[in-house]
Amino acid sequence: MNITSQIKQPIRDEMELFEKKFYESMSSKVALLNRITYYIVNRKGKQMRPMFVFLVAKMISEENKVNERTYRGASVIELIHTATLVHDDVVDDSNRRRGFFSINALWKNKIAVLVGDYLLSKGLLLSIDNGDFDLLRIISVAVREMSEGELLQIEKARRLDIVEEVYFEIIRKKTATLIASCCALGAKSVSDDEVIVEKMRLFGELIGMAFQIKDDLFDYTDDAIGKPTGIDIKEQKMTLPLIYALNNCSNEEKRWCINSIKNHNKDKKRVKEVIQFVKDKNGLVYAENKMVEFQQQALALLQDFPSSLFKESLTLMVNYVIDRKK
Ligand code: IPE
Ligand code: IPE
Ligand code: MG
Ligand code: MG
Repeated sequence: MNITSQIKQPIRDEMELFEKKFYESMSSKVALLNRITYYIVNRKGKQMRPMFVFLVAKMISEENKVNERTYRGASVIELIHTATLVHDDVVDDSNRRRGFFSINALWKNKIAVLVGDYLLSKGLLLSIDNGDFDLLRIISVAVREMSEGELLQIEKARRLDIVEEVYFEIIRKKTATLIASCCALGAKSVSDDEVIVEKMRLFGELIGMAFQIKDDLFDYTDDAIGKPTGIDIKEQKMTLPLIYALNNCSNEEKRWCINSIKNHNKDKKRVKEVIQFVKDKNGLVYAENKMVEFQQQALALLQDFPSSLFKESLTLMVNYVIDRKK
């Protein structure tokens, strides 16, 4: 059995029902929208966020049972995640996602922006229409932080002067908060114990940090991950491997590197040279070590919970985040 089916084992029924509900949650009377959402659900991602929701909920709840709130929470999160990916590919000018064409590549930016907004509104309404206001609060914080994180990233890319702390702030906002929300919401859907909800939120945040560092490491490979690689430097995005390399080289090397990113970022050969430079300066090794630090902190938080199938799966999941191949 492969690692993802092993992780899903204790939440198999929930994930199956979730997929149905998730698809239904997107439906519209507008035919164009239905065509696009049909395209989206047929190219599903790893679904790690709903998996976190269900695994945490089942680990926390008295009889290892989830409820309708848990399902709605999982759908809202996946709707919002999908919306941000549709928008992200416009922002990053990327034409591939999940091994296929991105929405903007097929239907152009205008439509992609509107579809992203539509998915976001469907998510928020799913919470509102059912009175899940406690869950909506958790989710809305993530939506705000994701927008702030993306804008902070653009602001820093313009000036090419980012330091490590700011990088961590960016990835905490743009990626870790949503995964933190999954875990907080999963807990909250079955328990009112704020200490546990907060502990799970932090657990998700730590995994989220490791998750985005992994995503940024992928960009330095030629691996077939279903989306373009080498795109961060082209987009002048300063991620951890590059930040480390820039802080650990001579002034002359730094000038060359900054100049390459500023003025030659569309030159494929030059981008390859920058990638090699980052590798030579041990930028990838450094980022990997940081990723493992976050992973270990996340694992430590799980220790307080009694052993169960769900805890086992969550542990596998934490390891999968850093070992995954896409
Ligand atoms: C991609 O998230 C966006 C990031 C936060 C890096 P995932 O890697 O979870 O995307 P899918 O849903 O599996 O495609
Ligand atoms: C992920 O950002 C999207 C959000 C968190 C909003 P990236 O641009 O780094 O992710 P990929 O690599 O395109 O999936
Ligand atoms: Mg992006
Ligand atoms: Mg992107």
